[in-house]
Amino acid sequence: VSMGVLISGNGTNLQSLIDHINAGNINAKIKVVISNRKNAYGLIRAKNNGIDTAYIDKKIFKDEEEFNRAIMYELKKRDVDLVVLAGYLKILSSKFINEYKNKIINIHPSLIPSFCGKGYYGEKVHKAVLDYGAKVTGATVHFVNEEADAGPIILQRPVMIDESDTVGSLQNKVLKIEHTLLPEAVKLYCEGRITIDGRKVSIKE
Ligand code: GRF
Repeated sequence: VSMGVLISGNGTNLQSLIDHINAGNINAKIKVVISNRKNAYGLIRAKNNGIDTAYIDKKIFKDEEEFNRAIMYELKKRDVDLVVLAGYLKILSSKFINEYKNKIINIHPSLIPSFCGKGYYGEKVHKAVLDYGAKVTGATVHFVNEEADAGPIILQRPVMIDESDTVGSLQNKVLKIEHTLLPEAVKLYCEGRITIDGRKVSIKE
């Protein structure tokens, strides 16, 4: 499977994918890492591993449509057939989503459908979880559809919340889970073990 990974920031989820692929756990190749942020550290991680990178500056495009078209161009020219959003903070156009139907995987740092959608990203997710007084949170890997953070769920894993937890400590607990959950989901996808029936995702053996 030829993967394209979209990032906007640190890229620890990207790093985890790189490590699992390098260890031979996942039969896939990351053909390109694309960022909408010039200084995303994830671009450095890609370069350190000899992976093509592309920084696509939204400001030089007349609208979202053209911006998404530019991203798709980078993916198409490398025959990418699985797109992974790993801390990518832009909404994809419906044209993009339809072009890669059920071939876009996203990781979100909560148990969707809680604490997700517009405005719920990065630390804001964990702050909302703590402010709500939730006792359990977690991470979700799902297919991307037209609604933000609401596509068919592939894997979820819980994280217990302690009295002493802060936004930072909770983010670290959830990130640790993310770093195993995303590679696990990508591995299942690459092994052709994921089937979707409407909203329901089932995993073979
Ligand atoms: C992760 O918490 C991910 O779930 C969310 O954004 C964060 C990205 O972190 N979408 P990193 O860039 O992979 O370190």
